[in-house]
Amino acid sequence: MTTLRIGLAGLGRLGQRYAENLARAVPRAELVAACSPVESEREWARETLGIPVIHDSYERMLADPSIDAVFLVTPTSLHPAQIEQALDAGKHVFCEKPLSLDLDECRRAAEHADKSTKRAMVGFVRRFDESYRNAYRHIAAGGIGHPFLVYSQTADLADPSGAFIKFAPTSGGIFLDCSVHDVDLARWLLGRPKAVKAYATGTVAMYPALKEIGDIDNGIAIVEFEGGRMAMFHASRTQAHGHDTHTDVTGTAGKVSVGRNPRADRVEISDAAGVRNTVLPSFYERFAPAFVTQAKHFVDAILDETPFDLTMEDAVEATRIAIAMRESLQSGQPVLLD
Ligand code: NAI
Repeated sequence: MTTLRIGLAGLGRLGQRYAENLARAVPRAELVAACSPVESEREWARETLGIPVIHDSYERMLADPSIDAVFLVTPTSLHPAQIEQALDAGKHVFCEKPLSLDLDECRRAAEHADKSTKRAMVGFVRRFDESYRNAYRHIAAGGIGHPFLVYSQTADLADPSGAFIKFAPTSGGIFLDCSVHDVDLARWLLGRPKAVKAYATGTVAMYPALKEIGDIDNGIAIVEFEGGRMAMFHASRTQAHGHDTHTDVTGTAGKVSVGRNPRADRVEISDAAGVRNTVLPSFYERFAPAFVTQAKHFVDAILDETPFDLTMEDAVEATRIAIAMRESLQSGQPVLLD
């Protein structure tokens, strides 16, 4: 095989970005089909992508024997069943995070992948960002001594229209939707220690509609790992200045920070009001190149038969910890992770 023939499921907010990347930016990928149950999304794909086949059902797309792999950018609640269906149909699978909202489903999907002759990977895009990779290499080379503390936040620009609220009931809550990225980073940057305990709390600062569905718009959590390692997480939907994702890792001989100033570009304006820069509006502007790198990594790993940088076990573990954070938020008690 010289190229990987791909079918893409989901053409929503993020799926359309994947479609453009797979069609134009990943040299060894051939986007040969896409599917969505929504006619306006299929029309977008016909007009924008120029790909030969657009299906109205996932099952019909899977029935095409010429497709080697599927990319799932569908609602999270569908991920585990769609992963299993794809593997059973003889396709490799890339799936957007998180793996599932339910731990048993996560484990079943991972076991299914283990037993299959085809391969599955869940995307955690920050691992493919150049700055995070540099930080990882610096830490792995001993640059900060023994790393023992991570602070990591995912904080979205406030949206006065509250448009995100319609996604909230199916997102699993702010920790599973947003902090799961930070949890995966913390495990990766601390050397994959076992998590032992989670504590969380949160508040509704701006969007009362979230209270009705048991969600929050700002949450904080602490996770203890074995060997005295720790992480602190902040997830927010209410930032006034922009999308502000950043991470600090502290070790016995130093500290690495990624993205402390979430600047949109390298322009800095100084005047009588002070010194300032503009800020990124959303996650996609921040991580656009990493989404391409991640797709290339998946395609290369399948074609060259090399390992994925992250495993299904990593995806299960990130979800397990984020679910424990949600449980602690709901109960007000620490949650033990055995
Ligand atoms: P969305 O709701 O905008 O898009 C979902 C898409 O799936 C729509 O095109 C919908 O028509 C399609 N769909 C629904 N049922 C389907 C089925 N049975 N078969 C095929 N397609 C189906 O959602 P969004 O925001 O694009 O999120 C999709 C996934 O991407 C979620 O799992 C989310 O957690 C993840 N995501 C990851 C981000 C990251 O930073 N890595 C950021 C945003 C989303």
